[in-house]
Amino acid sequence: MTDRSHLAPVWSKLTDLEVVSGSGAIVTTKDGSEYLDFTSGIAVTSTGHSHPKVVQAIKDQAERFIHAQVNVYTHDLLEPLAAKLNEITPRSVDTFFFSNSGAEATEGAVKLARQYTKKPNIIVFQGSFHGRTAQTMAMTTSKTSYRAGHSPLPSGVFVSAFPDFAATGEAENVAVDRALAYLDYLLAAQTAPSETAAMVIEPVQGEGGYLPAPKAFLEGVAKRCRDNGILFVVDEVQSGFGRTGKMFAIEHYGLEPDILLMAKGIASGFPISAIGASSEIMAKWPVGSHGGTYGGNPIGCAAALATIGVLTSDGFLDNVVERGEQLASGLRELMRQDDSIGDVRGLGLMVGSTIVKSGTRTPDGTRVSQMLTHAKENGKVLLMNAGTWGNVLRWMPPLIVSEAQIGQGLAAFGAALKATS
Ligand SMILES: Cc1ncc(COP(=O)(O)O)c(C=O)c1O
Repeated sequence: MTDRSHLAPVWSKLTDLEVVSGSGAIVTTKDGSEYLDFTSGIAVTSTGHSHPKVVQAIKDQAERFIHAQVNVYTHDLLEPLAAKLNEITPRSVDTFFFSNSGAEATEGAVKLARQYTKKPNIIVFQGSFHGRTAQTMAMTTSKTSYRAGHSPLPSGVFVSAFPDFAATGEAENVAVDRALAYLDYLLAAQTAPSETAAMVIEPVQGEGGYLPAPKAFLEGVAKRCRDNGILFVVDEVQSGFGRTGKMFAIEHYGLEPDILLMAKGIASGFPISAIGASSEIMAKWPVGSHGGTYGGNPIGCAAALATIGVLTSDGFLDNVVERGEQLASGLRELMRQDDSIGDVRGLGLMVGSTIVKSGTRTPDGTRVSQMLTHAKENGKVLLMNAGTWGNVLRWMPPLIVSEAQIGQGLAAFGAALKATS
C-alpha cells in the first residue's frame, strides 16, 4: 500500500494498486504485476493506454508549445479539431466549444441552452450522471452519495423517469409508456414547456448502470423536445467516441441532438471536452459569456486529433462490434447457467451485467464488490461496478481489446461468480 498521507481522502478507491505504466489493455504496477484494465480509467483510454500515435502527437505538440490561451490568440489545431469533429458527429452539430472535463461541458451546455432559449429549467432522467460541479451535481440522480452534504444545489432541475424494465420486470413497451407519461406529467405539472430550456439525457446511462435507453423512449423524449421548443441535449461523455460500436451512441437511434456533449474517450486520457451544436445555436451564445483558461489546450487538441485518427482507421469500429458481441454472448451464456445474473444489456463495448439475489430481482451490490476483488486478485482483471445499488458490473474495456483478452475477462468474471456464490 502506497503512502497517501498528503492526499485528500475524498477520492473513493476501487483498488490500492500503484500503477507505473500502461500499454494497450494492460497496466503494470510497482511490484511488476500486470493487470488487464477493463476499466479503461472509467471509459477513457479508448485507444488503449499510451497508444503510440497519441503519445507521439503529445510529444510533438509539447515541443512546439504547451499552452496557447484561446482568448489571447488562436492556434493551429483548434479549427482542424473542430472540422474533424464536424466530420464524425451527427449532421445537426457543426460548431464546437472546448473545455476540460465532462462536467464542464455539461455545465456549459446548460448555460448555452439558457442563453439560446431564454428559458430557465432543465429536465434530466432518473439514474443520470452528469458530473460533480454544483450545477451538474444537481443534474445527477444515480446515487445520493454524489450529492449528500453538498446542498443547497442550483435550482431549476427536474427529474423524469428512465425505463429500466429489467429491474422492474415490466414489458419494455409498458415501461417506456410509463416513463413518457411521467415526462408529460412533469411538463404539465412542474416545469412548463415555456419554462424548459433543455432535456439532458445519456443515450446509454453510464454511472446509472450501463443501461441503453429503449429506442421508443429516446424517440419520445426527442419528439417532446421538438414539439415544445426544448433543446435535446445528448450527453455522450461516456458513450461517445466508438464505445458503442458507432462513433456516437445516438447514431444507433437515428436521432439528431441539438447539443452533443463529449469528453472521456475523445483524447485517450488527455483532459479535453467539447460541446457541439449547430452554428445557429452557438451564435446565440453572447461573446464573452463563457470561456476558460485551458479550454482548447493545444496538447489536448493534438491528443484528440490523434485519437480520432485511430478511431476512424479501417476496421477499428468493427473490432468494437465483434468484441462487444463476444462479450455479450459470453455473459448471456453464463446467465443461462446462473440465475444471479439478472440482466445483460448494452451496445458495443458498453455492456452491463446485473447481479441479483439468486432467482429474484433484488440487487446484490455486496456480491459485486466481492466479485471485483476476486477478479482483481485471482484473474488479474480490473473491473468496476455502476448503478444506484452498485449491482451492475460494467464492462468498458479499451476499444483495442483482443479476442483473447475478452476471453480472459469473461473467465475472471465466471470464476468470481462461482467463488462468491
Ligand atoms: C455521462 C457523463 N457525463 C458527465 C460526466 C462527468 O465527466 P467528468 O468526470 O470528466 O467531469 C461523466 C463522468 O463519468 C459521465 O459519465
